[in-house]
Amino acid sequence: MAEVRVAVLGASGWMGKVHTMAYQTYPHFLGTSGGTARVVALVAHNPAADPDLAQRAPGARILADWREAVAAPDIDLIDICLPDSLHYVVAKAALLAGKHVFCEKPLAETAAEARELADLARARGLITRVGHGFPRNPVHDLAKEIIDSGEIGEITLFKGCQHIDVFGDPLAPFMWRADGKLAPTGIVGDTGSHVFSFMDFLVGRVTSLVADNFVATSRRPVVEGLAYGEQVTLRGDEKWADVTNPDGSMLLCRFANGARGLVDFSRVATGRKFVQTYEIYGTKGSIAYAYDEVNRLRFYSSADPVGRRGYREIDVGPENTNFRAFLPLPNFSLGYNESKIIEAAEVIRSVTTKTPMWPTFDNGHHICQIVDACMQSSERRGWVDIPAV
Ligand SMILES: NC(=O)c1ccc[n+]([C@@H]2O[C@H](COP(=O)([O-])OP(=O)(O)OC[C@H]3O[C@@H](n4cnc5c(N)ncnc54)[C@H](O)[C@@H]3O)[C@@H](O)[C@H]2O)c1
Repeated sequence: MAEVRVAVLGASGWMGKVHTMAYQTYPHFLGTSGGTARVVALVAHNPAADPDLAQRAPGARILADWREAVAAPDIDLIDICLPDSLHYVVAKAALLAGKHVFCEKPLAETAAEARELADLARARGLITRVGHGFPRNPVHDLAKEIIDSGEIGEITLFKGCQHIDVFGDPLAPFMWRADGKLAPTGIVGDTGSHVFSFMDFLVGRVTSLVADNFVATSRRPVVEGLAYGEQVTLRGDEKWADVTNPDGSMLLCRFANGARGLVDFSRVATGRKFVQTYEIYGTKGSIAYAYDEVNRLRFYSSADPVGRRGYREIDVGPENTNFRAFLPLPNFSLGYNESKIIEAAEVIRSVTTKTPMWPTFDNGHHICQIVDACMQSSERRGWVDIPAV
């Protein structure tokens, strides 16, 4: 059985912990027919500040510089859980060193960078994956199955949104996510890219769009040691920093298949801790999903007899392989971390079988094209075309 040796970069952060867990957990649920993973290196900015780091992957060596992992001959897969601004430079170095790469989203800060990475990986025959884990919940496999079977006909309209309220409070502290130097596209690359990943997975390519990005709170207090979205009791002597990237956006788009899209997302939806929805309308029916009922798909079919038409609520369950692996009964709910576990298993299977699986760097590139187009459109206040490659 093939073993993939993994280095997790940014291992003390949220995603770093999730990915490290996922490589070690997936065999319990999803088996090892796609190969096994061994986390051989954990890279953290400041390992001394994370006393539990070594415990999360026993036997892994602890490194403070990602370059050491990229250069190490005993590592097959570089897993990038670093802030957005490092994705391109680290992924490029890893691909040039002949490593397969799993990179958290967004793949890069610009579509040009993402394209370069996708081309480089293809030229070198390396496996790539972007961390768009939400669509890997089995409920979205069901959505895709319904769409691909033609049961809702030709897609005419996609409506999607994702909102959080971590920056709803003007006193929520400044952090790298609000810094245009470290995260130039702000919420567009951060959260918009999740909605765009559903669009890419379920509807297809976007050919043009018009977007209106906005900053809701232009300055935030700088308070060290607080996590994303934590509240601050001001002492009065804090430094303040300018928010230099978007807090939210609304956009209209056109897809290559003729469908239209209506999308909004933000980090300032006070009171909405996490809302993520889509509705997909077609000529013969429609589907609807909301994260609040994360394993449930609503399905309407015009093929139902008149007088019996209406939305069915389908709870994804053990009929779906990736659900049955975790739970024998429907409606016990798979959540965020299970989607990341499925993702880790698929990454390893991709590497061992040399078979790319959605979302590769090519998908990540298209998602970055949509992000770029949002930034350009809002700046120019007009429609922007997205090239086919
Ligand atoms: N797919 C998802 O659902 C999802 C969710 C959250 C975050 N993300 C993405 O994951 C990435 C990481 O986000 P996060 O929330 O885990 O952030 P985080 O701030 O919790 O973690 C980032 C870690 O990287 C470390 N780091 C920074 N520079 C470093 C360097 N040069 N060398 C080594 N370590 C360094 C930091 O110390 C920190 O521990 C981001 O790109 C983000 O967009 C994806």
